[in-house]
Amino acid sequence: MRIAVIGCGYVGLVSGACLAAIGHEVICADSDDSKIRKLNAGELPIYEEHLDKVIHTARSSGKITFTNSVAEAVRAGDAIFICVGTPPLADGGADLSAIENVARVIASEARTPKLVIEKSTVPVQTGQQVKRALQVYGREHGATFRVASNPEFLREGTAVEDLLHPDRIVVGVEDAESERQLREIYQPIMDGKFACPIHAKGCPKLELARFIVTTINSAELIKHASNSFLALKISYANLISDLCEKLHANVDEVTHAVGMDPRIGPQFLKAGIGFGGFCLPKDVQAFIRLAERAGVDFSMLKEAERVNKRRIDSFIERVHSALWIVKGKKIGVLGLAFKANTDDIRFSPAIEVIGRLLGEGACLCASDPQAIERTRSLYPGISYSGDPYETVKGAEGLLILTEWPEYRALDWKRIRGLMMRPLVLDGRNLLDPAKMADLGFEYYSFGRPSTAVTTMA
Ligand code: UGA
Repeated sequence: MRIAVIGCGYVGLVSGACLAAIGHEVICADSDDSKIRKLNAGELPIYEEHLDKVIHTARSSGKITFTNSVAEAVRAGDAIFICVGTPPLADGGADLSAIENVARVIASEARTPKLVIEKSTVPVQTGQQVKRALQVYGREHGATFRVASNPEFLREGTAVEDLLHPDRIVVGVEDAESERQLREIYQPIMDGKFACPIHAKGCPKLELARFIVTTINSAELIKHASNSFLALKISYANLISDLCEKLHANVDEVTHAVGMDPRIGPQFLKAGIGFGGFCLPKDVQAFIRLAERAGVDFSMLKEAERVNKRRIDSFIERVHSALWIVKGKKIGVLGLAFKANTDDIRFSPAIEVIGRLLGEGACLCASDPQAIERTRSLYPGISYSGDPYETVKGAEGLLILTEWPEYRALDWKRIRGLMMRPLVLDGRNLLDPAKMADLGFEYYSFGRPSTAVTTMA
């Protein structure tokens, strides 16, 4: 089976590369010519761990090709994955125009039977609309189409690992042949039988029960429901953290013990400046709109969104409380990406904090292991350094805005000596308050003891 992947963003590129890595013949298309030129020149338009290795191997074995012609990819593929963006509209709903455009190209270019698979995150019933568009625009050519949904659960930073070693594969189908084809596509992953670019010693099999077959509507809903639940969990942990501050408890201790209950689980209970990125915030908004249109009161989710927005206000209040006037003060920033192990700054809480402080006239010096270039194009006026020690030199305060693990391993004694005032505001609860106190830092984080000499907001 030949596979076409339409859209070479995070989802499309990782999906295309991994499907090629497990043995399929894949053609990836994107109408953005600069992206395709980069890919054909052996460069990657994004940073994602292991992706370079996976694409290099696939290209060397002739399993993957890239084209700027969506029509060419459509003609070549038996199974076509739609991986184009679904950005937020002004009202919070998802903009599905790119999905419709692809459906129209598929309808007009297809001359052989096609399995059309939505992988982009879409509201429930988009599959039905795609089916209708294929029927309406493909009538003249007589090609047959089947539609399926196969939501992705990739996390940026661990996307290759997540695709090759998933915790579940969800396929929403309406007929047995679509299910058969999707099983065939994912069989190497189910069997753990492919040359794994990450684990040289091979991969475990995926339990049969983790290949979940549902209706198309349910598959679409599973994706939005998963991301929204993760957002709820983070906002819940952030409220617990507020409570810990007021009542002198420690959020790390509380969430650690709470997360040990297998019904709750330890992940996504980390308090801090809140969730960002191109998925959780927009998916929560889209899910709220969807529920409203369906007449279901999902105000619980609105509350999670409101709590998340308040995190930034709360952090800025802390900066003011510690530094008073920020205008003209040199402040160091560690972390720009919306989370660790990615260069993605879309809806990054760090970018929001930086924007606010720049608006107040702060002099910022920022560092990030991957996201400096992307941030520079947004804020060219900030001084940047790849070296965290340069970033903190002479600073009156240091903000930690992304949870890069390497920041934990920095020589904090040296940093203390380099700063004009040893003040750290840790927006990600990355460092140990007791150790920071021992080193002589004035240290603030969320829901944990502070070593404050000033009063916290
Ligand atoms: C998210 C989901 O986790 C994936 O399963 C999903 O496939 C993906 O969206 C998508 O829809 O494509 P991602 O956007 O890569 O993945 O990021 P997450 O790992 O979910 O983190 C989101 C934000 O929450 C980050 O800003 C992170 O720093 C923050 N976060 C995460 C917390 O503040 N606390 C936590 O405990 C966990």
